[in-house]
Amino acid sequence: MTVSLFLHLLGVVVWVGGMFFAYMALRPVAASVLEPPLRLTLWAGVFGKFFPWVWVSVALILLSGLHMLMVLGGLAAPLYALAMLGLGLLMMLIYAVVFFSPYAKLKHAVAEQNWKAGGAALGQIRQLIGINLSLGLITIALVFVGRMLVA
Ligand code: HEM
Repeated sequence: MTVSLFLHLLGVVVWVGGMFFAYMALRPVAASVLEPPLRLTLWAGVFGKFFPWVWVSVALILLSGLHMLMVLGGLAAPLYALAMLGLGLLMMLIYAVVFFSPYAKLKHAVAEQNWKAGGAALGQIRQLIGINLSLGLITIALVFVGRMLVA
């Protein structure tokens, strides 16, 4: 359980922390100081470095989370743990949508130097990452409130 919790939290820190940095720090500055060609090229590069780590984090979170859920009794686990499974799966689904749809479009648009299409794709990514960041922070809060109520 301790090893699983460690791997789980490592994945959460990388994924949610990375989204927080991208959304709250890099996004507003890039939007105010860079013109579209440079800004879109920057984001395509940043996501190209960050997303492989998100896949690793997703695998770690899912495997360690399911292991801990088994230890806690499977479907008889506390409600907050089952809610975490639901929210976590939703976050992973949203991430997969980002990866296979607007991110693929962004890479393509940057390669073709189609800045209008790239801007539209980046706008979609921004919205979906904003939702996922909120879900991630809510999930973290929910676990701690849930544990307090159970204890
Ligand atoms: C995808 C499916 C997920 C499953 C099956 C899952 C399952 C679990 C389980 C069973 C625990 C141990 C709970 C306990 O010992 O009381 C745990 C801990 C935790 N999980 Fe998840 N989780 C998932 C996703 C996530 C996500 C997406 C986040 C955050 C964004 C998250 C954040 C946490 C945190 C912060 C803890 C530590 C709680 C503590 O020990 O105080 N989990 N998870």
